[in-house]
Amino acid sequence: MQSQTTTGTAAARRVHFHDLHPAPADMRAEVLAGLALPQKRLSPKFFYDADGSRLFDAICALPEYYPTRTEIGILRRHGAEMAARLGREALLIELGSGSSVKIRTLLEALRPAVYMPVDISREHLLQSAEALAAAFPALDVHAVCADYSSAFVLPVDHHDHPRAAFFPGSSVGNFEPPAAARLMARVGQILGPGGRLLIGVDLIKDVHRLEAAYNDADGVTAAFNLNLLTRINRELGADFDRDAFRHEAIFNAALARVEMHLISTRAQRVTVAGETFAFAEGESIHTECSYKYRIDGFHALAAEAGFAAEQVWTDADDLFSVHCLVYG
Ligand code: TRP
Repeated sequence: MQSQTTTGTAAARRVHFHDLHPAPADMRAEVLAGLALPQKRLSPKFFYDADGSRLFDAICALPEYYPTRTEIGILRRHGAEMAARLGREALLIELGSGSSVKIRTLLEALRPAVYMPVDISREHLLQSAEALAAAFPALDVHAVCADYSSAFVLPVDHHDHPRAAFFPGSSVGNFEPPAAARLMARVGQILGPGGRLLIGVDLIKDVHRLEAAYNDADGVTAAFNLNLLTRINRELGADFDRDAFRHEAIFNAALARVEMHLISTRAQRVTVAGETFAFAEGESIHTECSYKYRIDGFHALAAEAGFAAEQVWTDADDLFSVHCLVYG
């Protein structure tokens, strides 16, 4: 089902809102299936309710969390070159737009005809899209509430514009590499031959630096991870005791990924949507992977998805990379 509404006051009726209704029923089914696995898991896409989205914004500002500010630095520094690659007057799709902070650094240079932020978090998406539309009055904003980790159809046809996509934040690293390749291939299909994807990718580095980024001293990342349990309690009628779980983040060097877990601090039973799950003391729920890449490794993944590497930008310390890829 799809619906379109236009938001804003009479003075600023600029955001077209397309709700693709990422189904709440999926959350129930996915949570129950994940908790029934031998290694329990919960999908990271459920992190982003209103509280989770706010906590995530706080993570991005943490001193330990280098990716956000490093990526923004790269975008600022090389934005004109990036814009020249992507082309003006494009239909610019952003996957997982969140607060749409990063795109602002590019909009001046890019001047897209249409900006289409896609995000699963409905309220956050709407607020961000409206703020952006107010700041860039000439921009046509089409906000799409959808789960980009599964196939979705672009709600409007803008065949007259070249297409480009922006996928920052190393969110591609939150998918297993085969799933990341499938997601990028779907983006490629939306873009069509010659379409460009500007994508941020975190790089492999010192283990302490990596682990600190996901386990900050103030416990913001811990609160973000634990919020998943609060959300499941509220939305699925579960009885997780937040105080009986703790946050853990470790770098798995063999798989080149940071793993986040919620560890049960005691033996316990939890009921979720009428089903009961037993936890041993020390048992984990795996909540997220954040794969890290080397530049050539990422280019190999992009090639699997049908993209050729056109240009890559990094910071002076080689912490983070932003790639311009061409489809087809
Ligand atoms: N794409 C981000 C990353 O992997 C998402 C993220 C950052 C994240 N910090 C997090 C997800 C903490 C969960 C918990 O870096």
